[in-house]
Amino acid sequence: MELIIAANWKMHKTTGETSDFCRAILKEEKLFSGVEILICPPYTSLPAAANIIVDSSLKLGAQDLHWEKEGAFTGEISGAMLADLGVEYVLVGHSERRHILGEDNNRISSKVKAALDCGLKPILCVGETEAEREAGATNEVIEEQLISALKALSAGKIGDLVVAYEPVWAIGTGKAALPSDAEAACLFITEALQNIAGPETVKKTRIQYGGSVKEGNIGSFVEQTSIHGALVGGASLKADSFSKLVHAARKAVQS
Ligand code: PGA
Repeated sequence: MELIIAANWKMHKTTGETSDFCRAILKEEKLFSGVEILICPPYTSLPAAANIIVDSSLKLGAQDLHWEKEGAFTGEISGAMLADLGVEYVLVGHSERRHILGEDNNRISSKVKAALDCGLKPILCVGETEAEREAGATNEVIEEQLISALKALSAGKIGDLVVAYEPVWAIGTGKAALPSDAEAACLFITEALQNIAGPETVKKTRIQYGGSVKEGNIGSFVEQTSIHGALVGGASLKADSFSKLVHAARKAVQS
């Protein structure tokens, strides 16, 4: 399966900084063959990024969406608005939205459906907190997140999904999961998806690992059987280090 590496910039970069990053990363584009690269800037920088990467192989992602197409939702952005800007992917249920902004599994379920209804590919983020891990509840938490996020979808739609396994305790802490633990969780996700939608449907579903991924450790994640890419926060903010990270991932899967 083609690797998918997504840069999640969170609330970073003005339009000028976005343009500089995109121009810099495009210089390396030819070297990225075999890896699908996705940039998820803040909403305000989507048009700037779209203008520069339009004829390239780089893809555009958004960090969230509202669950309705339009309406009286001050401050919100819909999937239709994102699709209009050339956005192809959208993160749904990122841990910062779950734990800082209070999104629950029901809300996330309606967002996954809204994304697919607008022709966007959702990257559904799941993962346990440190306390849940210590209580031995990792699989239970992930399974509940998957089942409730996908309950409103027909099995066929589930095949279009990317899932990002992001243990909450590993995000932005510099304390990445052990590759063997990440593999165990991603294998569990694969099996849970097969139970939900059937093995044929999820054959092409890619699963990313996220949480303190950097150039020095990405290889050890993507060489695992059940991990097909990464969702990268902090290490995606500088074009040169992000491109080194992509090269490290390619090298690991080619060797
Ligand atoms: P991090 O963030 O790479 O900075 O840990 C990952 C994420 O939040 O998606």
